[in-house]
Parts: sequence; structure tokens; C-alpha cells
Amino acid sequence: MTSKPSPVRKRILSGVQPSGKLHLGNYFGAVRQHVALTAEDAECFYFIADYHALTTVHDPAALRQNVIDVALDYFALGLDPDKAVFFRQSDLPQVCELAWILSTLAPMGLLERAVSYKEKVDRGLESSVGLFTYPVLMAADILICRSNLVPVGRDQVQHLEMCRDIAVKFNLRYGEVFPLPEYRLTKESKVPGTDGQKMSKSYGNTIDIFAEGKALKKAVMGIVTDSTPLEAPKDPATCHVFALHSLFASAEEQEALASRYRAGGMGYGAAKSELLGKIDEHFAAARQRRRELAADPERVERWLVQGAEKARAAAEETMRLVRSAVGLRP
Ligand code: ADP
Ligand code: TRP
Repeated sequence: MTSKPSPVRKRILSGVQPSGKLHLGNYFGAVRQHVALTAEDAECFYFIADYHALTTVHDPAALRQNVIDVALDYFALGLDPDKAVFFRQSDLPQVCELAWILSTLAPMGLLERAVSYKEKVDRGLESSVGLFTYPVLMAADILICRSNLVPVGRDQVQHLEMCRDIAVKFNLRYGEVFPLPEYRLTKESKVPGTDGQKMSKSYGNTIDIFAEGKALKKAVMGIVTDSTPLEAPKDPATCHVFALHSLFASAEEQEALASRYRAGGMGYGAAKSELLGKIDEHFAAARQRRRELAADPERVERWLVQGAEKARAAAEETMRLVRSAVGLRP
């Protein structure tokens, strides 16, 4: 077995599905870390998983809009297209080629144990072959860049483990081509939604990152609270408004608010207004930047094309090794 040259710098990769507007859970659980990681001594690859989204988004106009929205969101939130390779998954059709090759060695039993597939079918999604083999395509995304580190939320850990299993199997059968990717859990792994469950597009309990004005107010005022009367002391630990507020506040601010909760005399309405203020303040600059970028679609498209070119170069390098390792080429 010969060892193949690996990229010298560590590679970090992650993807986000364009399946709706990004919300505070996506921001604190994913986007913020992605942007921060670009400061590390590593090559960062981030992509909009539009092939994956086809498993659940069946309206072409909505898919197109969602892809643009995710790109605008990332760039507005500070992703520098010169510091990270940011691209559309479908600009890298090689990933489907690799997914096919990986599917010939991914055990059925492995995929049958996938929790996310079962959950999606239980929620009423049509059980297509694509939905079932979703983790194989995800393994291809990760392996095609020969990634070393994949920052994800807790819900994606099983997919990462499947990717590692598939990589090990490939390397054993055909020789070492893929480094084994590690995952890194993001710190905020469970941002609560307006109903206290995990914030998720699928639960209709989101506060969108770029909601503002009336829409933002409606979402924040709609956060479920208990019926403790205004004058009574309240427990910050069980309050979803407090949990969300903490994401935006310094340790001192959190402590000051917690004391006011415990002292009584502060209503949930006041806490919600403060949260609203925090959100407005935190995203003010990003909102402005998003408006500017939305007015300049050519610039955004140029960045996506630039990302796609760099990602394709990395993917082609891997695919040459893969095609040769499996015997499709000399
Ligand atoms: P959704 O549940 O809204 O469909 P996705 O599954 O598309 O969100 O998640 C995209 C990224 O955002 C993933 O890395 C995921 O772990 C993270 N994420 C989503 N919701 C939350 C949340 N409520 N708290 C923390 N991270 C989250
Ligand atoms: N499945 C991920 C999610 O729903 C998105 C995704 C697709 C991804 N391919 C990936 C994440 C590769 C990390 C690496 O959030």
C-alpha cells in the first residue's frame, strides 16, 4: 500500500443546507464558529449544500432564493471570501462521482442505522433513495477535500462517524487516500427556540438572524414564558428569554439580569424588550452589509465562482487519486 501525499496545511470543512432562512441557532451553533475558524492556520472550506437540500426542498424558485440568502448571510456575517473557500456544492459535480464510488462500499446496515433518516421519515418526508443515502453524499463532501476537521452541531455527529467508517473502509480496500476527519462540536450546541425546544426550521420556532422591525418583534414577543406574575421573583435558569439573552450578553450583564429576575418586579415583557435591543445591536452592522451585498449580486456571484474554482482544484486532485486507486484510471 503506498501512502499518498496529503495537503500540507490542515483543512477545515463544513456545509450548511439552503433549506430556509438562517436563524439564531444556525448563527451561534455554526456560522459564527465558521467565520472565527478562518483566523486559524488552516485552509477553510465552507459550502452551501444545495444537492443535499434537494432531498427536502422541491420548489426550484425557493431553492435558488435560499442559496442566495445563505451566501448573503455568510458574507454579511463576516466571512471573507479570500480567507475561506466558500462555494456551492453543485459547482463541484465531482462530489457526486465520489459519492457513487463511496456508495459501493458503504454497508446498507450502516445507513439503516442513521437516526436523521428515520426522524425525517417519521416527520412525513417522502423516503427517497437520496434521503437514505444523504450520509454518503455528506461523506463525499468531507473526503473530497481530504478534510481534517469538521465543525458541526451535535445532530451531525452520527453522520461524521459514518464518514469515518466509510473512509477507513476505502483506505483498507484501496490504500491510504483519505485522512480520517475529526469533528469538533460547536460550543452552543442547543440554542432554544421560541417554544423552548431546540431552535429549528422544522419546528417553526425560529428567530431569523436577519429578521428586523415588526417581524423580529413578533418572534421575540412570541417566546413562551410561564405565568409568574410581574412582581414575583423569577428563575432565570428556566426562562427561554434569559437563555437567548445570555448568548448576546457579557458575564456581568448576564449576572445583572439574573439578579433582576430573582428580585421580582421585572416582567417577561421587559426582558423580551431587552433581548430585542441586544439582537438589534448585535446585528446592526451585518444588516447594513447584507443590504449592500444584496444590491450587488454580481459581486456575490463572483465570490462564489472564485470559491468554486479553488474547491474544484482540491476536488480534482483527490479524484485523480481516487480514480487511480479504484482502477477506473491507470
Ligand atoms: P435546522 O434544524 O434549522 O434545519 P440545520 O440542521 O440546517 O438547522 O443546521 C445547520 C447548522 O446549524 C448545523 O451545524 C446545526 O448543528 C446548527 N444548528 C441548528 N440549529 C441549532 C440550534 N438550535 N442550536 C445550535 N446549533 C444549531
Ligand atoms: N448535513 C449537514 C446539516 O444538515 C449539512 C452538510 C452537508 C454538512 N454536507 C456536510 C456539514 C459536510 C458538514 C460537512 O447541517
